Amino acid sequence: MKLSNRLSAITDYVAPEDKIIDIGCDHALLDVYIAKELGKRLIASDIHEGAVNNAAKNIEKYDALKEIDLRLGNGLNVVNPEEINTIIIAGMGFHTIKDILSNKEKLTNVNKIIVQSNTDVIKLRKFVISLGFKINREKLVKDSDIIYTVIEFVRGEEKYSYEAIYFGPRILENKDELFTEYYTKKLLKYENLLLQLPSHEIRSILHHKKLIRIIKKELDIE
Ligand SMILES: C[S@@+](CC[C@H](N)C(=O)[O-])C[C@H]1O[C@@H](n2cnc3c(N)ncnc32)[C@H](O)[C@@H]1O
Repeated sequence: MKLSNRLSAITDYVAPEDKIIDIGCDHALLDVYIAKELGKRLIASDIHEGAVNNAAKNIEKYDALKEIDLRLGNGLNVVNPEEINTIIIAGMGFHTIKDILSNKEKLTNVNKIIVQSNTDVIKLRKFVISLGFKINREKLVKDSDIIYTVIEFVRGEEKYSYEAIYFGPRILENKDELFTEYYTKKLLKYENLLLQLPSHEIRSILHHKKLIRIIKKELDIE
């Protein structure tokens, strides 16, 4: 089966030893792929009954009942800590992801979090790092004209500069054409915004000037 670029990027970070829960599985196509193409058993869950029903249909359709343990419920409430060592969360906003990962007693055995947030990737990096994780791998991926960030966090400590948190430390090490595309657009957006900001909004002006400066530096623009 063929996954979207976004979901496919997540599967690149799945390893044989991972004991996975995919939270917010919705259609469960990611889970069917992990079960059938990567040969793994895993837990898939969703808070909405409609989503779980959709997932159940796909799991049956692709004959993955043996591999996928489907559960209905909120975030990590549906598992015991010893059942998992890896969490996948994709396609949600930062605040929902933060709420889910704040259930700290369920994280005891978790040594890997693969995450794709639809919003606030910078806040997401800071938050997951504050839980005792570091960024192992990450990449930009384009899907239907939208560029997403997929991050693999693992247990550990690493110090990060402002720029590393902003762009992503591993993304900075490997600046590809998506990087240029993504930040060229952001640069234009911030430059336009700066022109429109009222002169009394000094903090915001300084903040945007700083972002423009660091983006230009990484894009090698003077
Ligand atoms: C936009 S879909 C993303 C589906 C899939 N993960 C993907 O990336 O394509 C988000 C899903 O997360 C589920 N969801 C939202 N909050 C949740 C929570 N606290 N616990 C479990 N599932 C949740 C929603 O019901 C929805 O099915």
